[in-house]
Amino acid sequence: MKFIQVGVGGFGKTWMGLLNKHPDVDVVALVDISDQALSAACEAYGYPHSIGYRELSEALAATQADALICCTPPEFHRESVATALESGLHVIS
Ligand SMILES: NC(=O)c1ccc[n+]([C@@H]2O[C@H](COP(=O)([O-])OP(=O)(O)OC[C@H]3O[C@@H](n4cnc5c(N)ncnc54)[C@H](O)[C@@H]3O)[C@@H](O)[C@H]2O)c1
Repeated sequence: MKFIQVGVGGFGKTWMGLLNKHPDVDVVALVDISDQALSAACEAYGYPHSIGYRELSEALAATQADALICCTPPEFHRESVATALESGLHVIS
């Protein structure tokens, strides 16, 4: 499955580690409002910086993802989850 992960901060790193080593998962986009967090995440897991996005809408437009995993603080979950569901993605939150 192709995943977009939104939020690559503290707990997001735990999920990134799991997705990164799963043989059936392809991480096609990382989304975070922090350029620093995006950059650190790409470097930690060997992803090209080009898969990092500041906006979920951009990541959705640029990829053919199957699922989204939401690792932002709780007050930001609703927008990302609703947007992903409306785009036909499965969601883990
Ligand atoms: N830290 C833990 O041990 C832990 C354990 C269980 C669950 N969680 C859950 O994980 C979620 C994230 O917590 P955390 O500890 O990783 O927080 P964090 O603040 O360390 O990281 C959150 C990340 O989300 C980014 N972010 C914030 N708003 C955003 C938005 N609107 N769009 C995109 N990115 C955004 C931040 O820049 C940051 O990189 C929360 O729902 C928390 O309850 C955390």
